[in-house]
Amino acid sequence: MNIVFEKESQRFFINTKNTTYIIEIVKNEFLAHLYWGKKIENYFGSNKIMFRDRGFSPNIFKEDRTFSLDTLPQEYPQYGNGDFRPCAYHIIDKDNNTFSDLRYISFEILKEKPKLNGLPSSHGEKIETLVLTLLDEILGLEVKLYYSVFYDSDVIVRRTSFKALKDEIILDRMLSANVDFRTDNFDLLSLYGAHNNDRNIDRRPLTSGTYVLESTRGASSMHQSPFIVLIDKEGTENYGDVYAMQFIYSGSFYSAVHVDQYRNVRMQMGLQPFDNNWILAKGETFDTPEVVLAYSNSGLTGLSNQLHHFVRNHIIKEKWKNKARPILINNWEATYFNFTEEKLLALAKEAKEIGIELFVLDDGWFKNRNSDTSSLGDWEVDRNKLPNGIDGLADKIHSMGLKFGIWFEPEMINEDSELYRSHPEYTIQIKNRNLIYGRGQFVLDLSNKEVCNFIIESISKILDSQKIDYVKWDMNRHITNAGSLFLNSKNQRECTHRYMLGLYYIVETLVEKYPDILFESCSSGGGRFDLGLLCYMPQTWASDNTDAICRSKIQYATSLMYPSLVVGSHVSVCPNHQVGRITPLETRFNIALCGNLGYELDLTLLSNEEKSEIKNQIKFYKKVRDIVQFGDYYRLLNPFTTNEYAVNFVSKNKEEIIVVYLKVLSEPAAPFHILKLKGLDENSLYVDTVTNNVYSGAELMYAGLSLENVKQDFYSKKWYFKKFN
Ligand code: DGJ
Repeated sequence: MNIVFEKESQRFFINTKNTTYIIEIVKNEFLAHLYWGKKIENYFGSNKIMFRDRGFSPNIFKEDRTFSLDTLPQEYPQYGNGDFRPCAYHIIDKDNNTFSDLRYISFEILKEKPKLNGLPSSHGEKIETLVLTLLDEILGLEVKLYYSVFYDSDVIVRRTSFKALKDEIILDRMLSANVDFRTDNFDLLSLYGAHNNDRNIDRRPLTSGTYVLESTRGASSMHQSPFIVLIDKEGTENYGDVYAMQFIYSGSFYSAVHVDQYRNVRMQMGLQPFDNNWILAKGETFDTPEVVLAYSNSGLTGLSNQLHHFVRNHIIKEKWKNKARPILINNWEATYFNFTEEKLLALAKEAKEIGIELFVLDDGWFKNRNSDTSSLGDWEVDRNKLPNGIDGLADKIHSMGLKFGIWFEPEMINEDSELYRSHPEYTIQIKNRNLIYGRGQFVLDLSNKEVCNFIIESISKILDSQKIDYVKWDMNRHITNAGSLFLNSKNQRECTHRYMLGLYYIVETLVEKYPDILFESCSSGGGRFDLGLLCYMPQTWASDNTDAICRSKIQYATSLMYPSLVVGSHVSVCPNHQVGRITPLETRFNIALCGNLGYELDLTLLSNEEKSEIKNQIKFYKKVRDIVQFGDYYRLLNPFTTNEYAVNFVSKNKEEIIVVYLKVLSEPAAPFHILKLKGLDENSLYVDTVTNNVYSGAELMYAGLSLENVKQDFYSKKWYFKKFN
């Protein structure tokens, strides 16, 4: 039993392999948060909640001036009855009042995780779930808090559901999770970025007030990731308490950390409340998306190990979790829109010769799509470019012994398209207002089922040929004019969440209909790199920026949340198309090998030397692919704080190790550095497969590897160690 209710103390204990989360029912009707952290087998209340009469903290009970919701650490705080800190939910009732007063009613401990319809959700066998029911009888609002235990990953997944029992209620804020800490000894770590600059690490001390990290873009975005971490002020990569929340959702989100008047911290995550509400009709239920709660007492490494385990085993579909990902060639940076069948076949021929396994046809294959100004929505092949159609091209690619993949951007529409001319009402828009352009395109209204079914049909027409092995699902702008001609005026503010529900309906239908197709999600790179889409599509294109030096940072930060198995990572041409940098081919490969390897350059223009170098890279990657994609990942040197980057991968049986090191700029009078590896078996001997030198696991980890001082910018090196018998 991972969930236990102790009647005498009125406490719930939620246990994972290494963590414990404790909730106490206070005064028979309030849910107080007692503890979340390292596992405690025997708990008797040493950190009991202290009560005191505090000025300006209102009291629920006249006779007890020490009891205030304003100072109680709570599970799901509300607004209006004394707690002035940010609430977890907010409602508007039929009389336009916003007061609500939920009291604890009952609990259930389920042997399973109840199904969450219409939203992405974590999965697993025998996942125990605690359900706590709260009720506001006068309002007629029932709220259920769900806590599902992913024992083996040390993760608890939370969500909330609301039910209107009497009258219609407007849900104005409906977060999925809230945790109150009785300390502020934390730094806040989050990931921010921009197009071509996805996921940078931000770490800042907490002082008083509220820190909000959010997206209002209708997508999770690369601007802020739906992922926040509280780390001990003294915490490091390997040391200290670390608490994370991560959202299983791909739309606008909200997360906040609030430091209150007594220096307690409240951490929250859920749907974006701004410009977003839900009308809950009598008898209806609204389910929030899920939030992942992960705690580690061994710094960021421990946290990432847990999250990687969780993503592999409980987010990615079972079918893909152990499937090695093919090495691909993508024609985007090789040709952009300017290609013919002949050109693509020439590229494919070169690709096959150097050992690539999958050919991906990117944007530009459908009618009149010669630039990014037209044709989105018209998913019919352009016979000028591809006279034999997609099927004809796919047949030829297959007959070369390559798999075949194709790009779509199904959620979008161009003004210059047949679809827009015949169905302008399919576009997200506000009546009588001008539409706002993004990459010259508009967004389809996925709150309208007819539009969703149109997308499913158009994409199915191409996929039905059974000749497609892979789909790249792109999305290149955010939502403006958030409104729908299809929804009633009353429901307009539901538009962006309904959009997400529509998107999940579409992708769920398609991935179930085509279970053998490998889907990769993309949003101008990692603009929707989130657990929501990973539930359907088991890998994501990490960034449109393919420069190795930029990528070292992007991938390093991405690794905080995701295993390399889900991170698309390509070698591209120099000068690099995004930043103009010239880096050695070896360095481009060394960085790209830290994810799902691909190539995105015109192979037909390469010299014989370059081709043979790439051939060797691919041979190498095939040898070590399982270590990179299925092994354990360790960050060694942080490119955000040093001039270097290093990571190592360890195979599951600890018998094979890959190490990648990068030195960004050459330095005068540089010190000789030592690189200490992680995760090896200290008692094993490992042989360097290039030099044949043998070292013990202990020395590689504790004494480290001596690094050379090379007079070269963008220098990199990799090592492949094998257990020596
Ligand atoms: C943005 C993607 O991230 C690129 O890789 C490419 O597919 C383009 N869109 C195509 O328009």
